[in-house]
Amino acid sequence: MVEKNPDEGAGSCKRAEPVDRVVLTGFRASGKSVVGRKLAHSLAYRFLDTDEELAAEMGCGIEEYVRRHGWPAFRELERSLLVRLAGGHRLVIATGGGSVMHGKEWRRLRKNSLVVWLRAEAETIRQRLQDDVRSAAQRPSLTGGDMLAEVDRMLAEREPLYRQGSDVVIDTTGRPPETVVSLIKDLVARTGERD
Ligand code: S3P
Repeated sequence: MVEKNPDEGAGSCKRAEPVDRVVLTGFRASGKSVVGRKLAHSLAYRFLDTDEELAAEMGCGIEEYVRRHGWPAFRELERSLLVRLAGGHRLVIATGGGSVMHGKEWRRLRKNSLVVWLRAEAETIRQRLQDDVRSAAQRPSLTGGDMLAEVDRMLAEREPLYRQGSDVVIDTTGRPPETVVSLIKDLVARTGERD
């Protein structure tokens, strides 16, 4: 259910000091915002959703912004937000599904964070994308095609990045958010433990 990610970076939940920042990554509609909000509440940390933060900064939804200015302009805003967040403490951050592509800024944010990849199967993602009222305003197609049809291809492209860019993977398929929250809380509590 919870796998350690040995590929890169910290590669472990164990740190010299306990972490006070949790970063959630994963594909669209993998549950980052729902889990993040509950987790922050339960840890008494602040919650921040990068998509919401960017929408406030842009003064419109991501769909409208990308239609007017293109993806590269959006990615620039996303990149500079990650830099600003790297100094935050007692914080849970739900990051947009593409944030992990900003290698240098992601690595900087990752320092002193526990990065959790919330994984879900393509079918579950498609279902959640359809059910989520925010999809239309916040999730324009990444390929210029259909948002649901592109899921398999985009997942195949992104999964190696999520794997390399995270410390642990939690499979969220069929798991209520509360279960995922308590798994992450246990991991956070263990970050300061010595072997
Ligand atoms: C994106 C994911 C979205 C949002 C934007 C781009 C992506 O966030 O940042 O539409 O590149 O995968 P969610 O992961 O919260 O849907």
